Amino acid sequence: MTGKQTILLTGGNGFIGANLARLLMKSQQYRVVNLDALTYAANPLSLADLEGNPDYVFVKGSITDRELVASLFKQYQPMGVLHLAAESHVDRSIVNAEDFLQTNVIGTFTLLEAARVYWNGLNDDAKESFRFLHVSTDEVFGSLGADGYFTEETPYAPNSPYSASKASSDHFVRAFHHTYGLPTVITNCSNNYGPYQFPEKMIPLMILNALSGKQLPVYGDGSNVRDWLYVEDHCKAIRLAFEKGVPGEVYVVGGSNEQKNLDLVNQICAILDEVAPPEEVNQLREQGLKSYKELIRFVTDRPGHDRRYAIDAGKIQRQLGWQAEVRFEAGLRQTIEWYLQNPEWVDQVSGGAYGEWIKKNYAWRAEKESK
Ligand code: NAD
Ligand code: DAU
Repeated sequence: MTGKQTILLTGGNGFIGANLARLLMKSQQYRVVNLDALTYAANPLSLADLEGNPDYVFVKGSITDRELVASLFKQYQPMGVLHLAAESHVDRSIVNAEDFLQTNVIGTFTLLEAARVYWNGLNDDAKESFRFLHVSTDEVFGSLGADGYFTEETPYAPNSPYSASKASSDHFVRAFHHTYGLPTVITNCSNNYGPYQFPEKMIPLMILNALSGKQLPVYGDGSNVRDWLYVEDHCKAIRLAFEKGVPGEVYVVGGSNEQKNLDLVNQICAILDEVAPPEEVNQLREQGLKSYKELIRFVTDRPGHDRRYAIDAGKIQRQLGWQAEVRFEAGLRQTIEWYLQNPEWVDQVSGGAYGEWIKKNYAWRAEKESK
């Protein structure tokens, strides 16, 4: 025991969780107990550098395991929960939503229930300062047309099995505050990018496909819009909402950085052309590429593909003083460089099993037309 305050973090081996764990450990204010089931999306290497640190505890297990979760509250007496564990990939939820229901809905409920029992037994001061921070997504609000922004007042309209499961979990969090007084805070964030993201998501997928000379599959006509935020900026928002957020409140978080998918893929290719010119990459030399852009292919659209996401982050800016700090061009370059500099991390997640899964499950991504 080091006398620091303990946080129960879920999903710490995932993309955002790993960046958040590192941010919290750097602050030297907290002891972090990370509960992660180590699903396909986790990479043990993401937090390998924290092993042996007396302020970091890793527990392998599922948030759906009622006894385990209750025992962690009892053993570690956390002053709060940072809940990130989830099934997070929209395409997978289209193929099979079962795990999304289990983890995102049942798992969140299990965690809330254990938190409620634990919180009820705390003394008044500890009760007052306890927080259950639920990390959610802007996808619960559905799809925007050409204008407008998501705010904390936007009605829920989830369109994919993934966003439906996240919306359900948000509702349970809200209900536990309203009914039982559990001091919860919800954040709904836009698309994150940065180091440690599993390469089934758009940005790392494009980077790694390009570097191995594979096609760059752009869904539909590439005009869908996402609002991209550098992952460390999101982690700072989570920390602020945890430390200063008002119980029962919701904060939407975004990068004010809308990009059409095709424009984004072109930017990735342009940076790669500069930092890893195709004629200098062994595997690519025989393809005779002048630019990675030649690998872009338009493919069958994602079923139910949301058109546009965009966030008005005015509330968290005004009330908690949060600001996105990393400019997109710099963040994207940093991200590309990170993937180039961390082949061991990539190898760990891009082995045979992942490749097989793609072949089996992504039939609808068949090439539609070539650029
Ligand atoms: P991720 O898929 O990279 O990581 C999820 C982590 O949760 C993995 O380490 C996995 O092993 C763990 N996990 C899965 N099921 C579990 C279970 N039953 N018990 C314990 N651990 C389990 O996800 P991410 O992109 O880091 O997203 C983290 C959270 O942030 C999610 O709740 C997601 O909905 C939300 N979010 C993500 C984004 C984004 O752009 N990635 C944006 C907004 C919100
Ligand atoms: O908005 C927040 C959400 O952002 C998070 O809640 C999710 O967990 C996260 O995965 C992300 O969801 P998206 O579906 O927006 O992310 P993804 O990286 O899968 O896709 C981004 C966009 O790129 C989307 O419009 C689909 C498109 N796309 C994606 C892939 C994987 C392609 O065109 N080609 C691809 O191969």
